[in-house]
Formats: sequence, C-alpha cells, structure tokens
Amino acid sequence: MKLVVTGGAGYVGSVCAAVLLEAGHEVTVIDDFSTGNRDAVPAGATLVEGSLADVIDETLAGGDFDGVLHFAARSLVGESMVVPHEYWRDNMVTSLKLLDAMRTHQVAQLVFSSTAATYGEPETVPITEDMPTRPTNPYGATKLSIDYAITSYCQAYGMGATSLRYFNVAGAHDAIGENHKTETHLIPLVLQVALGHREKIMIFGDDWPTSDGTCVRDYIHIRDLADAHVLALETNEPGTHRIYNLGSGDGYSVREVIEMCREVTGHPIPAEVAPRRAGDPAVLIASSAKIQRELGWNPTRTHLRRIVEDAWAYTSELGERSHATRASR
Ligand code: UFG
Repeated sequence: MKLVVTGGAGYVGSVCAAVLLEAGHEVTVIDDFSTGNRDAVPAGATLVEGSLADVIDETLAGGDFDGVLHFAARSLVGESMVVPHEYWRDNMVTSLKLLDAMRTHQVAQLVFSSTAATYGEPETVPITEDMPTRPTNPYGATKLSIDYAITSYCQAYGMGATSLRYFNVAGAHDAIGENHKTETHLIPLVLQVALGHREKIMIFGDDWPTSDGTCVRDYIHIRDLADAHVLALETNEPGTHRIYNLGSGDGYSVREVIEMCREVTGHPIPAEVAPRRAGDPAVLIASSAKIQRELGWNPTRTHLRRIVEDAWAYTSELGERSHATRASR
C-alpha cells in the first residue's frame, strides 16, 4: 500500500515506518523534527519536512495514498497539565485537519496512535476496551476526543480506522530506540544511570497500594507494537472504527524494572525514593485479548528482560557513539 506516516522521525513512528517498509509498503514520512530525530527516518522512506498542519493537504493531494498512520503528537502527561493549549492545538486541531485532508483526497484508511491515558485511573485491571474512559490529564483527553472524531468520520464517510491504545512502550528495534530530547520515561532514564550519564534514578513514591509500594506498569516491546500496526492496517474495514489495547499483559513495579536493569547491565544503579509524581495511576495493566482474538496479534517479546536487553543494546551503543564524538573534538 502507499502510505503516509506522520511523526515518522519519532521513536514509535520511525520503528513502525521501518516495519511497514519491511512488509513491502511504500512510505512517505511527514515530520517537523520538533521532537523526532532526523537519522531515525528509515532509508527507503520519502521525507516531507514540515509541520503536519501545514503540509498534510498538499501531501495527500494527487498522491494517490491508500492510508495514513498517525503518530505525530505531543505525548508527555506532565507537560500536558502545564501547557494544555499546545496539546489541544497540536493533537486535536491538527488531527482534525488530517481527517479533513483524508476526506477531501479520498484516503480511506487510518491507524491512530493512542494511549492508555484515555482510561485514566482504572477501577480494575487488566483494562479492557469496554471500560470507562475518564482521562485524568489533557494528553489523554485530546487522544480520546480524536477517537470520537474518527468514529464519526468512519460512520459518515466510510473511512476504515483502528486506534491502538499503547501501554508502556519500550525496547529497541534495529538500531532505533528511545532517544527523546527531553526524556521522562523510566527505562531509558534508568539505563542512563547505568551508562554514567545520570547519578541516580528517582523512584516517584514507594507508598502506592502495590506489593512493593511502587507503581506497576505493563511494558510492551516496540517491535511487537509495530507488528500490531501492520496487522491493523491490513485488516481495516470501511465504515468501521476499531479500538484495541496494546500491552504485554504483565505488570512490573518500578523497583522490579530497576532490578532488571541492574541484572542486564551489571551496574549497581543507585536509586532514591522521591515524592509521587502528579497524575500517576498506581497500576496500569492491559488486556490485549481483543486484538489477539480478532486480528491474531501474537507478541513474542513480552518478558521484561528481553525489553530491557534490547533497550540497553541501543542505549549503550548511543553512549559509545556520543563518547567517541566528544573524544574526537
Ligand atoms: N518513574 C519513576 N522515576 C522516573 C520516571 C518514571 O519512578 O524517573 C515511574 C513513574 O512514576 C511511573 C513509571 O515509572 O510509575 C513509568 O513511568 P513512565 O514515565 O515511563 O511512563 P508512564 O506510565 O507515566 O506513561 C506511559 C506512557 C504515556 C501514557 C501513560 C498512560 O509513556 O504516554 O503511560 O498512563 F499516557
């Protein structure tokens, strides 16, 4: 298929673009490099550089595209509490422009990058897709409202769409891993301590109602996540909006993640308990039974050790490269 991947220079977007190319699709990446990395855009993809809102219409016009995979977004929960207007503008308003450009230029298929943050604080886990959606931050609210728009576009205009609600994405695939300009995620931060780039990892609260008092999350390997996007795209049905959770189905506490990073890296990784982080739910674990049952998604890299090993291979290689660059100056 001939596809547009928005945000194809970001962590998730670039790995998905690479996996779509591997699967034989033709890929055009749109990215403005506000948060993405230029060298993450896979070779073999055509690049349109620019802000999505500015370039989407002319990119889709006459391009004869079959579908769009929409990753370009702001995605930091904490930041969304401080500058919500940027989240409504860059997530909600820009996604509406994308949907309208798709309608105008008759691009019939969409895969949308969504989040567990649409559910908010769950009453029970594992979380299934029919549970209440009560986002506790603007980030989750913008993603949920885009889902409402997508549903109505599917019903009225015959678009076929799938929203994938990610839990905690981690790991690396083929030399692409997490390398955010501002890093807030647990695994890359812990690995930066192992690399010597940070002194210690702060544990945000040890008084949560969990077995060891630290928050529990469901970590999903980036490659398993990318495979789900290819499946979603290839099975989209006209006039239908499907929503699936994507996780591994196992929960690991912050302390368990740090311990696994110690085992994998052989580094002691100092840790210190800090106050709770605003907006964190205690436990988030996905049920991905629906996508496994309906689309035959079969994640194979579900153990935390595998996820951390792949993330470490990427982070340590990145660390060596930046050390070599500094040394050669
Ligand atoms: N954590 C720490 N110390 C750190 C960083 C994180 O203790 O330095 C803890 C957090 O408090 C949380 C856990 O590690 O309990 C995981 O935190 P991340 O920041 O790695 O990920 P989140 O669970 O906050 O966020 C993820 C996705 C979001 C999504 C959210 C759903 O990254 O996009 O799950 O709640 F919205």
